[in-house]
Amino acid sequence: MKRQAGIAACDFVKSGMNVGLGTGSTVKYTILELGKRIRDDGLNIIGVPTSIETEELAKKVGIPLADLDSLSHLDVVIDGADEYDSNFELIKGGGAALLREKIVAQASKAMVVVADERKRVDVLGTFPLPIEVTPFCHETTRKSIESLLRVRALVRMNGDGPLLTDNGNYIVDAHCGPTILRPRDVEQQLLHLAGVVQVGIFSGMCDVVVLATPAGVEVVRNPSGRL
Ligand code: A5P
Repeated sequence: MKRQAGIAACDFVKSGMNVGLGTGSTVKYTILELGKRIRDDGLNIIGVPTSIETEELAKKVGIPLADLDSLSHLDVVIDGADEYDSNFELIKGGGAALLREKIVAQASKAMVVVADERKRVDVLGTFPLPIEVTPFCHETTRKSIESLLRVRALVRMNGDGPLLTDNGNYIVDAHCGPTILRPRDVEQQLLHLAGVVQVGIFSGMCDVVVLATPAGVEVVRNPSGRL
């Protein structure tokens, strides 16, 4: 299912575009397909990766890459999500790439999300909310997150130590449960904490979900979206 959605999303990419390349096991299939279309069909694009992992994969399949800073604009970003609700609000960061993903999504003219139907929820929060924090005083920040949200929040581990993001930060996962009724408010409250670098709530960004279901791929457009 992930493969089907990943490939179908390539239809939003046309020659001449600058394309944000997301991170994760679904968008991996988009990246592989874009590489194939560059080789076989002469598709001409420039990619902007959202993680070191994606950068390595994109290089391997022959997608020309550039820094966002060196481009005048980004036409579209294609990325996965951990959850999305009926208002096309997202939780992202399960792969710890949320900061770069959000920088790229914010800079893009449009955002296409690739997902399977397990990601569709009524209310966000069953998937623990990833929050990127500074290593400095991360325990203080973790406790502040717990008291702000009144939930349990845990530093994501990688073996014996905290997992390090591509930016050298840590991730705190907040176990909210399906309670995030006002995602933008939660995002803004968390961003007020000095140790919070970024929050895995992507609000007002997603224009289309390319959704894989057992019956096939469904393209679900955000009625107030840009695509
Ligand atoms: C990476 O940090 C995440 O935001 C991913 O985009 C998200 O976890 C979706 O990944 P999968 O497609 O692997 O489920």
